[in-house]
Amino acid sequence: MPTRIDDLPLRSVAEQSDAELGGPGSVLVRQRRDHEKLDRLVRRVEATTGDAQDEALEDLCRLVFPHAFAEEAVLWPAARRALPDGEALTVEVEREHQEINEIVAAVDRSRRGDAGREELVRRAIALLREDVRDEEDELFPRLQRALTPAELRRLGRAWGLVRRIAPTHAHPVVARRPPGNVLSALPLSALDRTRDVVDRGVRHSPAPVAAAGRRLSGALAGLAGLVEQLPPMRRGEDPSTTSGRTELER
Ligand SMILES: [Fe+2]
Ligand SMILES: [Fe+2]
Repeated sequence: MPTRIDDLPLRSVAEQSDAELGGPGSVLVRQRRDHEKLDRLVRRVEATTGDAQDEALEDLCRLVFPHAFAEEAVLWPAARRALPDGEALTVEVEREHQEINEIVAAVDRSRRGDAGREELVRRAIALLREDVRDEEDELFPRLQRALTPAELRRLGRAWGLVRRIAPTHAHPVVARRPPGNVLSALPLSALDRTRDVVDRGVRHSPAPVAAAGRRLSGALAGLAGLVEQLPPMRRGEDPSTTSGRTELER
């Protein structure tokens, strides 16, 4: 009896060549490239302390949040359409993303040296690694089986585009699904990216300018927090995704 393709074991995206994954523009190749960068940044966070670690954490967030936001807006809806068990698979990664957002938001609210901060950073790193493995070993090989290389490249373009304009900070209150996350993308992204410019300036400014910059950055973060709370930004959420921790920590 001939073997059905569905009976063959899944091959992790990590073990395949670019050509097997649909070529350089394929969403699977683009994802793997970002995951490799993520791994390098995580190692930098683990190897540093003090200012150097804060900088490494910032760089990690600037990579991770647009990456994940674009997954939630573009890739997981496509996976739900293409895979019979897409709902269960994507709700699992949405829960991981939600927990990472909640933990990083808590790290943002803390100060260096606060009790429990180190533990939060460790937990966020463990979850990031788990998320990459779930995507590369399970979800993406399934997507690869269900879609043609041309479809994987089309998804790669859409994901890459959204990633370039997506928010760059943790936003645990917005929905992890459309339409809420799509509606929130532009206002949150504008606020986050302005904040990133201010934060970079703060690092290289004399004390009085840096103090004003920090106040401005805090105000932008507060404004983003208000935007997140608007009811339309929470539309589409699967109720099981929210852990409730965000509410507890506020
Ligand atoms: Fe990813
Ligand atoms: Fe992810």
